Amino acid sequence: MLPALRRDPIHAFMDAAVRFGDVAFFKIGSRRGYLITNPSDVRHVLQDNARNYRKSPLYQKLRASLGDGLLTSEGAFWLRQRRIAQPAFHRQRIETLAGVMADAAAETAAHWETLAAQRHPVEIGNEMMRLTRTVVLRSLLGGDLGPYAATIDAAWATINQQIAESFWSLGITDWLPTPRKRRFHAARAVLHGAVDHLIAERRRHESETPDLLSMLIAARDEETGESMTDLQIRVEVTTFLLAGQETTALALTWLWYLLSQHESPRRRLAEELDGVLRGRRPEYSDLANLPYMRMVIDETMRLYPPAWGFSRQALEDDRLGGYELPRGWLAFVIPYVLHRLPAYWEDAEQFEPERFSPERSADRSKFVYVPFGAGPRQCIGNHFALIEMVLVVATLAQRFSLRLVAGHPVEPNALITLRPRFGMPMYI
Ligand code: HEM
Repeated sequence: MLPALRRDPIHAFMDAAVRFGDVAFFKIGSRRGYLITNPSDVRHVLQDNARNYRKSPLYQKLRASLGDGLLTSEGAFWLRQRRIAQPAFHRQRIETLAGVMADAAAETAAHWETLAAQRHPVEIGNEMMRLTRTVVLRSLLGGDLGPYAATIDAAWATINQQIAESFWSLGITDWLPTPRKRRFHAARAVLHGAVDHLIAERRRHESETPDLLSMLIAARDEETGESMTDLQIRVEVTTFLLAGQETTALALTWLWYLLSQHESPRRRLAEELDGVLRGRRPEYSDLANLPYMRMVIDETMRLYPPAWGFSRQALEDDRLGGYELPRGWLAFVIPYVLHRLPAYWEDAEQFEPERFSPERSADRSKFVYVPFGAGPRQCIGNHFALIEMVLVVATLAQRFSLRLVAGHPVEPNALITLRPRFGMPMYI
């Protein structure tokens, strides 16, 4: 499967699921594994028997590039880091961050008024990246990137591309000093510079309210009393900066695209916003009164899950869907495929937010829809991201109706995250 996965991973996985059903055998170089698409098997791997699995060796590329942070670490070390970070994501804590999110959205709206007057297409992906980065920085890491703000998006795009391209390469050519590799190292230096800047600023001025960064700096090991090394803090901050910015920005970018293509959902959303907000700024307490908005967000991440696929490796022999899974084999969970299987979704390729209404969702297994993963390794930022997306869309959709540049090709590109291959230029 290696050439097919290199060429077009989402379609390679999709074809396998359609041709072979619940459990499809994959041979990828020297590795073996199954693509699993039955919700009970997904539940088994991610949740019920999660102890028997670790993140697959494919994450090694991410680990080697960014360091071993919450997203990639394992075992007791992972659990300790997760416990340190968890309080920053408690529901009540996020409630207090809603104002920061709404402020950042309002600043984007003000900026867009100027852009709209210029009548040029705007790259919406970049706009969303800047917005979600501002939110993560102000609400979790309490600062700005100073001189690095202008270069960090391009740096991450380079890193994303390079890791994705080397993902299936089996490491044979990894040590070669190619020009691409040099670009990658330069990009990583920008990222490290930005993160070191944040940490140094915080050490100079303590923050008034405790946020994620202060929790990371203050954390002490229960047994040894030791604090995290500077290097580990850097790795965790990098993880949060990227995990928090990139995925949310992509979900929003796909959402603007889908709304621009579907008039009826666009109108229904506008009516809901008008009825609840009447033009005012959204607040946390409005969330419960915007059910259709939530359906639009869920449906967007069904069709375009920003984290389009992940994988695990079995620590001991297991069985999946009646087949033996020997220890060391991989299990692929691919939200992009699960979310589009005709067996579980009517008119699977259609954008239809109503399918997420409570009545129509009642009988659906929670494990055919996993944009945030599931089980102990589920996304720590899922509520944070959902609240942020509601507040951003509520602010911007009240004032702007985005239109894709006519004839612009739109196609997903499965890097580490699911990006629009040719960008998303839109008129505001
Ligand atoms: C729409 C937005 C988001 C999506 C679709 C998303 C998706 C995911 C997924 C699928 C995983 C699990 C990966 C696996 O099991 O291998 C994950 C983990 C994680 N996410 Fe998110 N995420 C989003 C937003 C965020 C935000 C806003 C933050 C932080 C501010 C964040 C931080 C993390 C971290 C730290 C992990 C690792 C958790 C652990 O293993 O303990 N994510 N995310």
